[in-house]
Amino acid sequence: MTAPLAQPEEASNLPVPARLDEVKGWFWPADQILFDWFLSRQNADPSGGGDLLELGAYLGKSAIFLGGYLKEGEEFTVCDLFDSPAEDDNNVDEMRRSYATLTRRAFEANYRAFHDELPTVVQAVTAVLPDRVRPASCRFVHVDASHLYAHVRADVETSRLLAAPGAIVVFDDFRAEHCPGVAAAVWGAVDARRLHVLCITQHKMYATWDHPEPLRTELAVFLTGREDLWHGVEEVAGAPLIRITGRKAVPPPHPRSRHETAAPGPAEEPVPAPVAVPSRRTPPRRSPLVRRLARDLLPPVLTRTVRRWL
Ligand SMILES: C[S@@+](CC[C@H](N)C(=O)[O-])C[C@H]1O[C@@H](n2cnc3c(N)ncnc32)[C@H](O)[C@@H]1O
Repeated sequence: MTAPLAQPEEASNLPVPARLDEVKGWFWPADQILFDWFLSRQNADPSGGGDLLELGAYLGKSAIFLGGYLKEGEEFTVCDLFDSPAEDDNNVDEMRRSYATLTRRAFEANYRAFHDELPTVVQAVTAVLPDRVRPASCRFVHVDASHLYAHVRADVETSRLLAAPGAIVVFDDFRAEHCPGVAAAVWGAVDARRLHVLCITQHKMYATWDHPEPLRTELAVFLTGREDLWHGVEEVAGAPLIRITGRKAVPPPHPRSRHETAAPGPAEEPVPAPVAVPSRRTPPRRSPLVRRLARDLLPPVLTRTVRRWL
């Protein structure tokens, strides 16, 4: 763990978030549901383990959420420039325009409101990560730092180097008008057919450097049971890609802040609406998408098992 720059008492003049919603950032309910699904699935797999990594933490919104899935013996690394100067003019300009008031102290104060221990903080450009994180060690990598093509292209490569077998890699802002460099870098890796897309939401692409099955089919089964998420499938670069929208998405429970008061009020977390979860007793209707994915993508022996289940 990195020594914190600010002790809690030094940071006491910073506002403390009582709920994750109060932490400024860009991490929306549909993505919270997907982070929860991928990370919970990994945590339930006794053979699965590995570290967590975030490139671009800002004030900690997604990092606080990710930290809730860290298991004993694993390491969570976040990398951000925070209040350090960037190394090239374009990145300096990007930092000044978008994150002028960001400080590491504020990140740490926010993180400590939800977790006892800080993650390992690398306060530097993301280019240093291959020297700071063990190759093939990370089971989940969230890439959400610079929007500039050269940086993101390097971040994509870093995610490949540091991804453990079967790792999930997530790219933020992979398609927005204000960040064409991210789109070019990320889709470039898909086009070269090395990066396999599992699904996309409005803001993030979820992918793997490994074989995407049976993960993609399992995801489609999960989505079929979610009434608060719309999903469809489209063939892109020769592979099925699941599109997800979730304007009414009901987020999973958040990590609790130690400053949360017990008194319920209007700002209280919405009570999650019941979500249809596949159960053995009442088999849910499988969507044509699930059936198609299972038929087209699974090896024959798995397909037979899934068919029986369907
Ligand atoms: C979009 S914000 C991250 C948002 C955060 N993940 C969330 O969910 O709220 C991008 C962050 O990347 C950082 N950043 C920008 N360029 C960087 C670089 N080259 N290396 C490291 N961090 C960088 C910025 O300081 C900023 O905090």
